Amino acid sequence: MVIKSLKFIPTTKLIMLDLKEITYQPQTGNKKILDDINFDVYENEILLICGSSGSGKTTLLEIISGLTIPQKGRITWKNKTISARQRRWISGVVFQFPERYFLGTTVGKELKIGHKTLREKNIDMVLKKVGLSNINLKQPPEQLSGGQQRRLAVAVQLMRNPSIILLDEPTAGLDWSMKNDVKNLVLSLKNKNTIIIVTHEPSLFMGIASRILILEKGKIKKLRNENHGR
Ligand SMILES: Nc1ncnc2c1ncn2[C@@H]1O[C@H](COP(=O)(O)OP(=O)(O)OP(=O)(O)O)[C@@H](O)[C@H]1O
Ligand SMILES: [Mg+2]
Repeated sequence: MVIKSLKFIPTTKLIMLDLKEITYQPQTGNKKILDDINFDVYENEILLICGSSGSGKTTLLEIISGLTIPQKGRITWKNKTISARQRRWISGVVFQFPERYFLGTTVGKELKIGHKTLREKNIDMVLKKVGLSNINLKQPPEQLSGGQQRRLAVAVQLMRNPSIILLDEPTAGLDWSMKNDVKNLVLSLKNKNTIIIVTHEPSLFMGIASRILILEKGKIKKLRNENHGR
């Protein structure tokens, strides 16, 4: 009897991030780039954000990660309002073409940037997570393949132990095998991390993501479930 009744317990999804009525218009512009955006992100879900060029995807990531302040709206994290500064702390953002912004002269130095004290164990753990375990830490990041460079950029963010990972066009400019490399990376982070991915290639992440949000001219056009991603 007990087992039978368990069947009827609804599966509750824990809401981590919640955006309410987010509206943004830059001082330099005369139109709203984001207009009344409302959605939430569940614990450990992978949410895709799609939309044509200029629809506001990157701006939305900038707002979530606290780099841009909206004129209107509220963002909560685990049901508590969270400031832009706090959002910068909890977010691990990988912007488009992250390899252009590597600062370290070696892979090891790139991973250590911003960390005064760091155990080698942490580096090993993070490299394992992104599938770069056997990499030579003494080589310059530029010597890595395109897919490996994207993995390194994600690893750099994971070093900060972010609560939410934001990826802006992680497959842009990569060939097919490298795109698959990135897809497998996302797959390996699935169920362990809350992830938002902005992409022009939703089909690549089909079966991995749980929902797709489609932006059009700064508004949410659609937010739909991807059943295969569960
Ligand atoms: N600081 C700014 N001042 C004026 N306009 C801006 C500013 N930042 C962004 N925009 C405009 O806002 C719109 C949305 O830009 P955003 O970069 O968020 O789009 P996107 O969906 O990421 O596009 P893409 O797919 O090309 O990366 C664009 O029309 C852009 O020109
Ligand atoms: Mg963009």
